[in-house]
Amino acid sequence: MLPPLRLEAPTTRRLGSVPVLRTAIDPKRADFRANADAYDGLIEILRGHLSHAAVGGRDRSIERHRSRGKLLPRERIDRVVDAGSSFLELSTLAGFGQYGDEAPGAGIVTGVGLVHSIPCMFIANDATVKGGSLLPASIKKHIRAQEIALENRLPCIYLVDSGGAFLPLQDEVFPDRDHFGGTFYHQARMSAAGLPQLSVVLGGCTAGGAYVPALSDEVIIVKNIGRIFLGGPPIVKAALGEIVDAETLGGADVHTLQSGVADHIAYEEPEAYAKLRDIVAHLNQPGFPEPPATPVDPLYASDEIGGVISHDPRFPYDVREIIARLVDGSEFQEFKPRYGETLITGTAHIHGYPVGILGNNGIIFSECALKATHFIEMCNQRGTPLLFLQNTSGYMVGAEAEARGIAKDGAKMVASVANASVPKFTVLTGGSYGAGNYGMCGRGFRPRFLFAWPNSRIATMSAETAQTVLVDIRRAGLDADRVDEDQLAALRDEVATQYETQSDPYYATSRLWDDGLIEPHQTRDVLGLCLALASREPGPAGSFRVFRM
Ligand code: COA
Repeated sequence: MLPPLRLEAPTTRRLGSVPVLRTAIDPKRADFRANADAYDGLIEILRGHLSHAAVGGRDRSIERHRSRGKLLPRERIDRVVDAGSSFLELSTLAGFGQYGDEAPGAGIVTGVGLVHSIPCMFIANDATVKGGSLLPASIKKHIRAQEIALENRLPCIYLVDSGGAFLPLQDEVFPDRDHFGGTFYHQARMSAAGLPQLSVVLGGCTAGGAYVPALSDEVIIVKNIGRIFLGGPPIVKAALGEIVDAETLGGADVHTLQSGVADHIAYEEPEAYAKLRDIVAHLNQPGFPEPPATPVDPLYASDEIGGVISHDPRFPYDVREIIARLVDGSEFQEFKPRYGETLITGTAHIHGYPVGILGNNGIIFSECALKATHFIEMCNQRGTPLLFLQNTSGYMVGAEAEARGIAKDGAKMVASVANASVPKFTVLTGGSYGAGNYGMCGRGFRPRFLFAWPNSRIATMSAETAQTVLVDIRRAGLDADRVDEDQLAALRDEVATQYETQSDPYYATSRLWDDGLIEPHQTRDVLGLCLALASREPGPAGSFRVFRM
């Protein structure tokens, strides 16, 4: 994950008279150093996994790919994006630990890059991973990239080199709504919505895969490597007894001279990318926007964030320390600072873009939920995008909280998040447990982007709580004389292992519960890019007035 694209050079100019957050952190203190060292360990692990995923498939597959004179997917993207610009790669660890660990990145590379200053969504198959065929996680990643493109109005560039649906798991990739057919549906709908769909055919496009170029607005095919056909040579032989080689059946000549399935021929890959850039230059699409305010560096270094986050998740940290390292000039106009103090709300700028921030400082109480609802309504009316920094064990439970109506107050917050029409962004900066995940705009609430830090955890509840709950339920269901303490201890261990495994950020990112794991110090730049994309088309104002809570 790289820093974003062409954001203004930061200055140290103050924005105005907005209050500035002052840190209570001393980087020289032993606790800061202990936290920072522990966090450096997490970052090292993350970087290791990212580099491994970026290599692609097995050595043998890579060698074979190269021996055909073909480039790898990230090399292809590099040749298309503007020189010197960066590429925001998404879901790099999709498929991590699944499919026998044989599908790095789920065999597909997606992300946002600039072509002639126009932000575009790239979807590039990695033919070194299972022939670029689409596993369940690949389909999810493909469709997620298309959703992001649709919401942010990005042209799509498909660099196609794929064996189509991963046939051994056909029941998990073919028939359902968000399976393979969903990718074509999105392509057709985006084209209708005026978002150009462009394909470069760099390998196989067989059967279902043939529809990716066929549904594109404009198609380039590379001679000798690009092939498009509904049935490949073995199928044609089996069905018709016809013997035909792949190039004759679906190569560049047949599709540019006879069938018209492709529009342009390139004789080698670099020529295809030059043509593609020329096509993008004439798309008549909006370029990268200018921010409404001059970007200003935070007062405190973002690489201090690792030292802010307690290495023991039982000890909290103040989310204002994170906000102070993310926002312009560390300026934060806090809303209701004395009310519902475990949920911080306020407005700021990131890279010159206005944003309303909600950050957890622990459990969400009724007052926090009411304050959050009020704040979300206000931001929505003002057209200010929302940023959620999640670190919560969830909503308060217990007799007192129930009697005060935590269920209905939490529901107000959840409903306001669901109905807010301004762009929403979420970063998992710590725990994301229970309905706290929902109220703080988890995946189900369709944030435009959702990123997670490598210290984050996501689950219905923590492993400690889950083992107590499940053991108590089992115990309550047994007659007193049938309670077997050894069995209950085994259950406790089993539940703890399950919850620890499933709340791990790598488990989550593998299943695309987020759009990628990012390092804390990258967060400001990544959010700057996301806000810039969203600023090109501000969402309509909401339909509810601001109710005081
Ligand atoms: N489903 C599952 N696995 C597939 C696959 C598919 N659709 N397409 C390719 N693979 C796998 C191969 O089994 C092989 O796996 P391995 O590395 O574990 O041995 C790997 O991808 C590479 O395939 P291979 O045929 O050796 O590579 P190639 O570069 O010579 O050809 C294709 C690549 C994609 C052109 C060719 O494999 C192909 O035509 N695949 C089937 C296409 C098809 O009929 N798709 C139907 C989609 S609905």
